[in-house]
Amino acid sequence: MSSYKRLFVTGGCGFIGSNFIRYALANRSDVHVLNFDKLTYAGNAENLADIESDERYSFVRGDIADRKAVSDALSDDFDAVINFAAETHVDRSILDAGEFITTNVLGTQVLLEVARQTSVSRYVQISTDEVYGSLGSTGYFTEKTPLAPNSPYSASKAAADLIVRSYHHTFGLGVVITRCSNNFGPYQFPEKLIPLFVTNALADEKLPLYGDGLNVRDWIYVDDHSSAILAALERGTVGEVYNIGGGNERSNVEITRAILAALGKDGSLIHFVKDRPGHDRRYAIDSQKARRDLGWKPLHSFGDALEATVRWYVDNPTWWQRVKSGEYRDYYQKQYGSR
Ligand code: NAD
Ligand code: DAU
Repeated sequence: MSSYKRLFVTGGCGFIGSNFIRYALANRSDVHVLNFDKLTYAGNAENLADIESDERYSFVRGDIADRKAVSDALSDDFDAVINFAAETHVDRSILDAGEFITTNVLGTQVLLEVARQTSVSRYVQISTDEVYGSLGSTGYFTEKTPLAPNSPYSASKAAADLIVRSYHHTFGLGVVITRCSNNFGPYQFPEKLIPLFVTNALADEKLPLYGDGLNVRDWIYVDDHSSAILAALERGTVGEVYNIGGGNERSNVEITRAILAALGKDGSLIHFVKDRPGHDRRYAIDSQKARRDLGWKPLHSFGDALEATVRWYVDNPTWWQRVKSGEYRDYYQKQYGSR
């Protein structure tokens, strides 16, 4: 049972949002979700095809930066807002940062402004560990690590976090911020490392590894992020930030080799390409606060979850082949054509 029963979820047609909605409906029988999503290139209604007919679920297409659209959809009927909606791909933010500012910064402020004029009592901002910048070979990000974002994407997320903070301090809105590390799992748009490399390898296409391939990320299975978000919603202290991480640090080359091994392919598909500009070297999350204060912990082992994820892409070629066509192809050409 949850004390937050009517959830206004934004960006629920994307990777984490769709997995979260499925997780919340499966684990809280009294929860209802309205999913408010613009359906950008990354939003795919198919990601929730299996729960479309659930009477506890409804969908409204809309833009979080559109004040009227948000005001029309977000009313006193809701107990909580959970904001997943964002432009999320670092490489796209390097090609063109404009939409990142509009959605991630302005959109967040619009949502906060409408939320504070309703009786919504919780606002959960889904942020990222990237707001802390980059680590050397030792140390961890804690909630006290200063914000030092390095890409237009992470700068827009950090800006949003500060606006969220201000709506708590100035207006008393019941905000909670979560900052999670790199997610993986089903329905992830195949522009991100793991789904891109799995689907490229399945098609015997090259795997473009940036720089020396030794950048490190701290990976978490998406359901473990979803359980942390529910915990932050239900048990988080207003005004607080919670770091979420799986404690699975891996270099990109290790991830690549694990994917190739799971698919029974050899290393000849690996193709070292020019590095990402401003590429953060290492992320590693200290999630002790969430574990202690929210009573949360990740439940999935990295190896098993990666294998299950690879299997999901193997078993769902129609999903990723359709997603990898159209506008995606133009982006991919722009991104890798010159490398
Ligand atoms: P995604 O790119 O897969 O999905 C984003 C969703 O937001 C899409 O459904 C898209 O249509 C929607 N959207 C975009 N702009 C919108 C707008 N203006 N109005 C309404 N909807 C809009 O993203 P994701 O990977 O699922 O990430 C979700 C959230 O989690 C983001 O806020 C991201 O910053 C954060 N996050 C992601 C990760 C990760 O590893 N993917 C890790 C930590 C935090
Ligand atoms: O840390 C959380 C963040 O993780 C989220 O906030 C972002 O929304 C999400 O996109 C992700 O950012 P990253 O930049 O870490 O993820 P990405 O999958 O783009 O890249 C992971 C690592 O793999 C990174 O070091 C860059 C590298 N990479 C990525 C791609 C797409 C490659 O070497 N080749 C590639 O083609």
